[in-house]
Amino acid sequence: MLTSPDAAGSPTQVDVCLALPDELQEPALLRRYEALLDPGERGRLGQFRFDRHRHQYLVTRALVRSVLAERTGSDPESLRFSTSRRGRPELVQTAGAPRLRFNLSHTDGLVACAVVVGVDVGVDVESCERPLEPLALAKTFFARSEAAELYGLIGRDRRERFFTYWTLKEAYVKARGDGLSLPLDRVCFRVRGDGTVDVRFDARLDDGVADWQFVVLKPSAHHRAAVAIRRGARSDLRTRTRKTVPLVCDTSFGCPLLAATAAGERGCDASDVARERRRRRQDLAQVGLDAAGVGPVP
Ligand SMILES: CC(C)(COP(=O)(O)OP(=O)(O)OC[C@H]1O[C@@H](n2cnc3c(N)ncnc32)[C@H](O)[C@@H]1OP(=O)(O)O)[C@@H](O)C(=O)NCCC(=O)NCCS
Repeated sequence: MLTSPDAAGSPTQVDVCLALPDELQEPALLRRYEALLDPGERGRLGQFRFDRHRHQYLVTRALVRSVLAERTGSDPESLRFSTSRRGRPELVQTAGAPRLRFNLSHTDGLVACAVVVGVDVGVDVESCERPLEPLALAKTFFARSEAAELYGLIGRDRRERFFTYWTLKEAYVKARGDGLSLPLDRVCFRVRGDGTVDVRFDARLDDGVADWQFVVLKPSAHHRAAVAIRRGARSDLRTRTRKTVPLVCDTSFGCPLLAATAAGERGCDASDVARERRRRRQDLAQVGLDAAGVGPVP
């Protein structure tokens, strides 16, 4: 087993296992992946209209089953899953076993499965080549200060910063298990020049910044990935990135770390808040917006 809880069964690390569907084309291997599926998964596989989406789904299922089987010492085809009211899949485990939590994400050319013992985790991967207009989406889904920051960037920088914030938001939403029900502008990120990520939560989220750890990764020149970990009062968990060929091998992957919450950061004090308010007013003034509608800094 690769993920080992400490003696008390508490989490020690998060594994982020990445699979590259384009590299997994060997017919015999794909037949082995199909043999892992339960009847529900097989039914869903048969419903895809496009081969590319069908293949991505198959690799995703094989990745999740392979990763969780290795960590539970089970056969991958024997694993059973339940789904929360809001659509979050969970592994069904025997009573008393250290509770494995996972989350998955897929995009063109990349599938990710994050796995950890005992804490909420969310992962999101996106292709920065997706045909979308960052400013239009940011206006609708992002907090005012995030949108204002994007207005101040151009070209590739704007697009990449958009996907950094998008993946962070989705990873957070997924770690909470909320899905689409959570308005994405209620969590607000800022990546500083030194690569640390500042986070603010709107009071309506009823959540504490100090409980969370965020990591942004660059799995390829075209992809962004973010991981959200509700680590509570623990110190930051170690994040290991793996390249996984389901059922075949799982190796360390030197994936560049783009940004992360500062280790040991426990939220911000009153002077941080005042500084942040000033900075946000300046950001907004630069792009011709006023501070109306900007949520309170927790
Ligand atoms: C769950 C959700 C957050 C993920 O959407 P996505 O980025 O399109 O897709 P991903 O590949 O990253 O994740 C999908 C996986 O998340 C998991 N998932 C589904 N519902 C979930 C939930 N409530 N909580 C956690 N994970 C969930 C599933 O495993 C799903 O994969 P599967 O259907 O193959 O099993 C999506 O339902 C959603 O709410 N998207 C928000 C879209 C949006 O408004 N985007 C604007 C961004 S600024």
